[in-house]
Amino acid sequence: MMNKIIAIANNKGGSGKTTVAINLAGYLSTKGEVLLIDADPQGSVCDWNRARNKNDKSALKHKKLTVEEKPHPQKKLKQISQIKGYDFIVIDSPPEDAKIMRTALVVSDYAIIPISPSPLDIRSAFITIKTIREGLDSRAIKINPAILISKKVIGTTLADDVRADLKPFKLPLLKSEVGQRIAYVESTIYGQTIFEYAPGSKAAKEFKKLGKEVIKWVS
Ligand SMILES: Nc1ncnc2c1ncn2[C@@H]1O[C@H](COP(=O)(O)OP(=O)(O)OP(=O)(O)O)[C@@H](O)[C@H]1O
Ligand SMILES: [Mg+2]
Repeated sequence: MMNKIIAIANNKGGSGKTTVAINLAGYLSTKGEVLLIDADPQGSVCDWNRARNKNDKSALKHKKLTVEEKPHPQKKLKQISQIKGYDFIVIDSPPEDAKIMRTALVVSDYAIIPISPSPLDIRSAFITIKTIREGLDSRAIKINPAILISKKVIGTTLADDVRADLKPFKLPLLKSEVGQRIAYVESTIYGQTIFEYAPGSKAAKEFKKLGKEVIKWVS
């Protein structure tokens, strides 16, 4: 079994990385065995997992989802390709720490860069976008990147501006978008994915669409 390693990265804090990592890992676990790794020393995924473990087992649907108990040390991130037994490994990476982010990008096959569509957030994400663009151009990394519009305020056209602003970097953008929705925040508090917390919600529907697009992309 070949792992497909997917990093969720953006140096900009609060862009929705952890939320995307958790829910994408949940979605992918409906297609195969998934390991969710917390490469962020803040340990947000681990916090979520601790809340998760307090749930009644019947509330947890993702039987093929494994979550690492502790933040993954940076030193061990380089050996990630040696981990066997999973179809997908999802890495949540930290903001601000360019070194860990870079390592995550080097060891991964794919990177999703969630960007919240506001001009300031786009500017802040440029470090990540440039790191990827230059890494690819110099062949220092071999990753397949894609930008994801995340936390989009529904009914605004800001996402269209983002698409235009990002054009010069010639990086693919995912068609699916993640809206700014309270259900994502609530599900995280309870240590659940959106598919467990509110399976019939608009959030779950849009995230399923994203999941399907990602599956197609990595297949
Ligand atoms: N799609 C969304 N809709 C509404 N709230 C969201 C959404 N995505 C994330 N949030 C909320 O925004 C905050 C930041 O999200 P999250 O922790 O996923 O971002 P992050 O990029 O991982 O942050 P950090 O850089 O600190 O690791 C959290 O309170 C989270 O619940
Ligand atoms: Mg995070």
